[in-house]
Amino acid sequence: MDDLTVARAFHVLAIVHWIGGVAMVTTVILPAIDRLAEASERLRMFEVIEGRFGRQARISTAVAGLTGFYMTWRLSAFDRFLDPAFWWMHAMVGIWVIFTFVLFIAEPLFLHRWLRKRAAIDPDGTFRLVVRLHWFLLSLSLATLAGAVLGAHGALA
Ligand code: HEM
Repeated sequence: MDDLTVARAFHVLAIVHWIGGVAMVTTVILPAIDRLAEASERLRMFEVIEGRFGRQARISTAVAGLTGFYMTWRLSAFDRFLDPAFWWMHAMVGIWVIFTFVLFIAEPLFLHRWLRKRAAIDPDGTFRLVVRLHWFLLSLSLATLAGAVLGAHGALA
């Protein structure tokens, strides 16, 4: 077993935890909160539950990024970023950049404050916005995941 295979295993493990968590939040937790909580309580409930996953997801996004760049270097594959046929490589980095920005910069610095302020004025609209954003990011992530598996195994060549 070589280092590239080990990096691939950690890459996939990190992706399973991270994108699997996003799927759980989007398809199970948000609909449950919608059904169980009053409009004014929904965002607070979401923050309590999602906060715990957010802390874990910081670790999995970091592991996914480190192993991803390591594999790119090991495969001497940085020139793939110059070729549109490798759109799935761009998609992986794109998704990673979005989540890294949200988890490490937007959430701690301004996102929570902005959402709370908005929810005080429009609790229902704010919760709907959170739901829509989760579906959008989950869809992009799943399309990327499928593209990455097909691309890495030569099916898109
Ligand atoms: C900094 C971000 C990332 C980089 C640099 C990166 C890089 C890579 C590289 C170089 C490979 C191996 C490709 C090959 O064998 O030809 C790979 C595989 C893969 N990546 Fe990423 N990746 C990143 C983020 C992501 C994200 C966000 C996802 C999921 C949404 C993802 C999902 C996958 C999957 C499913 C594979 C295929 C594993 C396999 O079946 O062998 N990666 N990645």
